[in-house]
Amino acid sequence: SHSQIGLIGLGTMGAMLALNIAEKGFDIAVFNRTTSVTKTFHENAGGLASKITPCETIEALVHAIAKPRAIILMVPAGDPVDQQIAALRDYLDPDDLIIDAGNANFHDTDRRAAEAAKAGPRFLGIGVSGGEEGARNGPAIMGGGEQQDWDRVAPVLTAIAAKFDGTPCAGFMGKGGSGHFVKAVHNGIEYADMEMIAEIYGVMRDGMKMSAQDCGDAFAKWDEGPLKSYLIEISGKVARTADPESGKPMLDIILDRAGQKGTGRWTVIEAQHLAAPVPVIEAAVMARNLSARLEARKQGQDLFGSAPEALPEGTLSADDPEHALIAGKILCYAQGFEMLRSANAPFDWDLPLPEIALIWRDGCIIRSAMLDDMARALTEAPERNLMYAPYFAALLKTHHAALRKMVSVAATYGLAVPALSMALSYFDTMRTERGTANMIQGQRDFFGAHGFERTDRDGTDFHGPWAM
Ligand code: 6PG
Repeated sequence: SHSQIGLIGLGTMGAMLALNIAEKGFDIAVFNRTTSVTKTFHENAGGLASKITPCETIEALVHAIAKPRAIILMVPAGDPVDQQIAALRDYLDPDDLIIDAGNANFHDTDRRAAEAAKAGPRFLGIGVSGGEEGARNGPAIMGGGEQQDWDRVAPVLTAIAAKFDGTPCAGFMGKGGSGHFVKAVHNGIEYADMEMIAEIYGVMRDGMKMSAQDCGDAFAKWDEGPLKSYLIEISGKVARTADPESGKPMLDIILDRAGQKGTGRWTVIEAQHLAAPVPVIEAAVMARNLSARLEARKQGQDLFGSAPEALPEGTLSADDPEHALIAGKILCYAQGFEMLRSANAPFDWDLPLPEIALIWRDGCIIRSAMLDDMARALTEAPERNLMYAPYFAALLKTHHAALRKMVSVAATYGLAVPALSMALSYFDTMRTERGTANMIQGQRDFFGAHGFERTDRDGTDFHGPWAM
């Protein structure tokens, strides 16, 4: 009997995805470069073992799968993906399908899709989000490539995906690298969400002198309101957990140097290519980069002193952190969705923004109650910036004051809140009809005769009477 699908790469994510697929009733053939990993995986698969065919070679894997074949790659992004595709090419037919489910750079996916279109086998790039638990119990899936190839494996992918009110969190985004592009923007937003939570935590810890436990309690409470989300939930859990060794809060033991595998950085780089303003995501990536400069930060503290002991009593009210975060979150997501929109023309895509919000409601790392409201707002008016949708505009009108207070208090007392600051600057820029770029244009015309437009006349190439 032949397997319906194959999977290569039994690291944590691949193993969990394979179990998920088997559990949904599909026969799956699996291969890992290290044979002992494949063996152990199969031995530990329990009741699902009968649905899984462990293979010791690529050739055996290919022969174990029914034609036309579909094989999921879950190997580290970059060269390993190209190596696996090259290895598979020797055994696959042109109409077999390779599905890259890793965190590929979407430019690589575009290239692989173009190569596949020339010589086969066929190729899909799918963004999979949700970490280990998501892969096992239901991730969010963003597919890119040829619609017919998506349709072919959609029964499997929708079966294993998370469900929000019964709707699978999986969908087709468009051709080429669009699935991985949407996944990258997801990760950029993930970085921004995480950073804003961390900044608020910093103000509560250093300014309001709240213990880790108190911060955890606050997050747990917010998880019952508009901020209800996976990231707030786990932030609460992280803050409330004690280190088994020292008994101290885990947060007080963890070194403040953030890791990153690069997806957030790709998003920011791409945003620059697209001239898409995503300042909150940029600040989040920047903050991770700065976090690595431990020595320099110590030197800075020795030289300039750190922030004062505590904020004067009553500087911030108990609700300010939550309300500031609500405003920051709306602004950050508005930027993320605008970035998705701005990719359509240059890449000749038609990214389904409302559906992306629907897909992100569950399974992925940024899943949240607010994404349901965003899906509604985008369905209602797909072309509108989220911050102008009535529901979000009303929240911003109420809560931008708290964001402003948070940022100004942090600035006054010397606490760094780069992402929140950027959210606020974006808000203020976006509600200022006459900004300050007239000065930029004056400068450009002065030093380079670049020309400017006038407010009182049509035309694009006016010059000032500058004296050299
Ligand atoms: C997801 C996550 C995941 C990501 C890791 C680590 O959606 O499941 O985005 O894909 O790779 O969480 O990312 P960093 O190492 O860059 O923080």
